[in-house]
Amino acid sequence: MPDRIPVYLDCDTGVDDSLALAYLLASPAVELVGVGTVSGNTAAAQAARNTLDLLALAGRDGIPVAVGAHDHLDHPYDGGAPHVHGDNGIGGVVLPRADAEPDPRTAAQLLVDLSHTYAGRLHVLAIGPLTNLAHALAADPSLPDRVAAVTVMGGAALVPGNISAVAEANVYNDPQAAAALLAADWDVTLAPLDVTLEHTLSEEQRRMLLADERPFVRALGSILDHYFDFYLPLYGQRMSALHDPLAAVLAAGAFTPTRAPRVPVVVDTGTGPGRGQTIADLRGQRLGPRDHDGVRTRVVLALDAPVAEHLVEVILAG
Ligand code: BDR
Ligand code: CA
Repeated sequence: MPDRIPVYLDCDTGVDDSLALAYLLASPAVELVGVGTVSGNTAAAQAARNTLDLLALAGRDGIPVAVGAHDHLDHPYDGGAPHVHGDNGIGGVVLPRADAEPDPRTAAQLLVDLSHTYAGRLHVLAIGPLTNLAHALAADPSLPDRVAAVTVMGGAALVPGNISAVAEANVYNDPQAAAALLAADWDVTLAPLDVTLEHTLSEEQRRMLLADERPFVRALGSILDHYFDFYLPLYGQRMSALHDPLAAVLAAGAFTPTRAPRVPVVVDTGTGPGRGQTIADLRGQRLGPRDHDGVRTRVVLALDAPVAEHLVEVILAG
């Protein structure tokens, strides 16, 4: 088997973050080498507690989990999204408390350290607001030289936002950080709402998780319950989007995107109605090829692949 991809996960655990974490733990293509948390769906400290408890339940408590930024670059944490992710970020499910405590480093420091340990191989998967990555880039501008690739769940290219008319939550929660990440010189794959809302987990698939004999997998099914309630009005039935798991599946190299042009992407960091918008220069999609030589950001616009089936299969086989 080829070497596993060493992955640093930056997350705001989070219902769909939990599912992405489970996939990374189970995927034979990936070695999860560290986790940093950030405020988003819930506070950074709570996200770390959720992550530690999930890892312990999965029997994988040796993976370092560092608490990252509580507040964002230009504003304080706003209290999260309990209506989407429950009061504790994981759908109100109370997991057995793990003995493990967070790593004493900040998430940014953990990332920088891992970039040395796995120099040239480390894959960064960011599925929350991008504050920790911005801190890491500011602390060590040479970080991109040691990172093989970055995959981000975030943004909305050609579709409406989910937190404002134009902005997706992870980018909206820290537009300056997203701008810093996109301005750095590294290979970025952006998985925006264009593709993450198109891939869904069904109630039948949630029940497959609930029916598993392992407490960790069963807990995932329970955690998803509240999230399915939230998505009911959107989809008209109990199911959910696969935002963060889709980014994890891409980071693992499980599927090749069907359409993912390399184009410049800038972020609106202002305070007007466009705040947090990811402005991707997709004119080439309509008006003929444009020269984007040297651009290292690709925007995933379509992924014709059975993402949900693959996700559940890998988790159940893990
Ligand atoms: C993103 O925002 C969070 O609520 C989810 O975990 C996901 O990372 C979707 O916009
Ligand atoms: Ca997330």
